[in-house]
Amino acid sequence: MSQVVVASNRGPVSFSLSDDGALEMRRGGGGLVSGLAGVASGQDVLWVCASLGEADRTAARRAPDGRIDRAGHDTGGAAVRMLDIPAATFHRAYNAVANSTLWFVHHLLYDTPRSPHFDARARRDWQSYEAYNAAFADALAQDAAQGAKAAIQDYHLSLAPRMLRERRPDLRIVHFSHTPWAPPEYFRLLPDDIGAQVLLGILGADHAGFLTERWASAFLDCCEVVLGARVDRVARTVTCEGRTTRVGVHGLGVDGTALRERAAQQDVTERARALREQVGDRQLIVRIDRTELSKNIVRGLAAYREMLANHPEWHGRVVHLAFAYPSRYDLPEYREYTAAVQRTAKQIAEEFGTATWEPLILQVNDDYPRSLAAYGLADVLLVNPIRDGMNLVAKEGPVLSERGCALVLSREAGAAAELSEDALVVNPYDVSQTAEALHQGLLMPRDERAERCARLVSAATALPPQRWFADQLAALD
Ligand code: G6P
Repeated sequence: MSQVVVASNRGPVSFSLSDDGALEMRRGGGGLVSGLAGVASGQDVLWVCASLGEADRTAARRAPDGRIDRAGHDTGGAAVRMLDIPAATFHRAYNAVANSTLWFVHHLLYDTPRSPHFDARARRDWQSYEAYNAAFADALAQDAAQGAKAAIQDYHLSLAPRMLRERRPDLRIVHFSHTPWAPPEYFRLLPDDIGAQVLLGILGADHAGFLTERWASAFLDCCEVVLGARVDRVARTVTCEGRTTRVGVHGLGVDGTALRERAAQQDVTERARALREQVGDRQLIVRIDRTELSKNIVRGLAAYREMLANHPEWHGRVVHLAFAYPSRYDLPEYREYTAAVQRTAKQIAEEFGTATWEPLILQVNDDYPRSLAAYGLADVLLVNPIRDGMNLVAKEGPVLSERGCALVLSREAGAAAELSEDALVVNPYDVSQTAEALHQGLLMPRDERAERCARLVSAATALPPQRWFADQLAALD
């Protein structure tokens, strides 16, 4: 029984099977892992997560109650329980509902040829999403001590707070959304009963957390319009079905010290040396993303192309390093998008490349130390999502940049709420404006760049993950 229980789809560790059938454990990345590692030390924390593949499921089955004892080292002492959710249920809940439907709604990703089609099959997928959420609620209900705090993360688990409250009314529950939240007119693409269940599920929590005011306020709008709930915008509360839930904003930044320490390690410095040799004395534009539709990589590449076309003075003097790491490859939209990114990159190479100048280097294999090395060398960092809950690349890059980088930042990223004064802010759909911002970033005098970057670093490190997580728990007191 634990005093703090955490739930998220992706956990702090994952497994792979080696050739001889042995299970190998890896630490998962991301702000939640570092946030929890800081809070867990000395506390009694249990982290419940899903098995993401066959190796995870094998590990979950072999461990008593799915408890992975060896994980504590990577989580600052938190115990980990991995749920053995049947593969078909997981696939429908994660791919069909969470990543295809809810992710698309919150990031406004539907377009006319691919507008949603909620038929009998979608209903079956929804039942799997309910079963998946119930599996989490059961595990949390089983493992939480009397009066414990439960911190439930993200759109995969929007039903779990209410389900957990039904099972354990003594618990104090927070739900946190790492994504944007859709405005009501877009949210209402969801079938009425499903939209209502999503909102009521989150309202099962005592506190619903969001990354920015904008997403919190969209959630309040949806509660009012879709549920007819009573919303107090000053107190930031929603009252529905006799219960009141508080809504809070908890920004997430980076732990500057931990990030700099990681970047000082040898695997990063070696890669930095190799990148430096590759780029020479040219200026460097860097982007680092999962190959994700909302990250707007194709328009980013198009903007670079337009800049090269409009400003031939940069030919031979700039390199664009674009890291686009594989993501959610089970979804056809993501496979098509990856192909589109590669096609666009090839066109740019053919159009502008010469025997002595490679204008664009696209890397698609995930390499975390290489990403850190690239941040260090960037002159301009491009972060242009069409919509993003926060975007930590926009915060990590300035922290590690050695000479101070210019940040070209989409106004639709949550991070823009904190960084817009010192970034070059763009409308992510406006390719020409983005092209001009890249040009301005490259032209920016070194002193100005360094001054702006120093202010970006202060803003980026003001709310480290430890603080973000502790704030969520404190909101329950
Ligand atoms: C976003 C979500 C996270 C998710 C991550 C990676 O940041 O908010 O919950 O873990 O994307 O996506 P994946 O589907 O690979 O877990």
